[in-house]
Amino acid sequence: MAENLYIPETTERAKIYEVVIPQIEALISSETDLIANLANISAALKQAFGFYWVGFYMDNQAGELLLGPFQGPIACTRIRYDRGVCGHSFSSKQTVIVPNVDEFPGHIACSSASKSEIVVPMFNPKGEICGVLDVDSDLLNDFSEVDKIWLEKLLKALGTKI
Ligand code: SME
Repeated sequence: MAENLYIPETTERAKIYEVVIPQIEALISSETDLIANLANISAALKQAFGFYWVGFYMDNQAGELLLGPFQGPIACTRIRYDRGVCGHSFSSKQTVIVPNVDEFPGHIACSSASKSEIVVPMFNPKGEICGVLDVDSDLLNDFSEVDKIWLEKLLKALGTKI
C-alpha cells in the first residue's frame, strides 16, 4: 500500500477488517518509526470505520499511560494504571470491551459523545506490555469479538516492530 487505503463498500465490519488490516500491516511493515506507524494506524482505522475516536496511550514507565498518536477530538493526556478502561486493560493485559461506558465503574469520559469502547493491550517483542489502543464509538454496544480478533491481530503485527 502506498498512500491509498482501499475500503470495501460494505457495512459488514468483518469484511472491512479482512480487507483493511492486511493493508495496514503492509504499510507498517515498511516503516521502522513507531510514532509514524501509530499515527497511520489511528488514521486508517478512523477512515475505514468512522469510529468516534481512535488512538494510543503509551506506558511512560512512571505509573501512567501517556496520550500518543490519535484521530478524533482532543483527549485526556495522562491516565494512571489504575484508572479508566485503558488502565484496566493495561493492568490486566487483556482486551476490554465496554458496551456502555456509563456502566463501567471508573470510566474516564474524555467526551460525553463516547458511548462504547474497546481497549486492546500492546506488547513489545519481549512480551512486555507497553501501551494500549483505545477505540471509542458514539453508538452503544458497537464492539464485539470481531473487533477484538482483528485489532489484536493488528497489534501483534505492530508489536514485532517496537
Ligand atoms: N475512556 C478512556 C479514556 C480515554 S478516552 O476515551 C480517549 C478510559 O476510560 O480509559
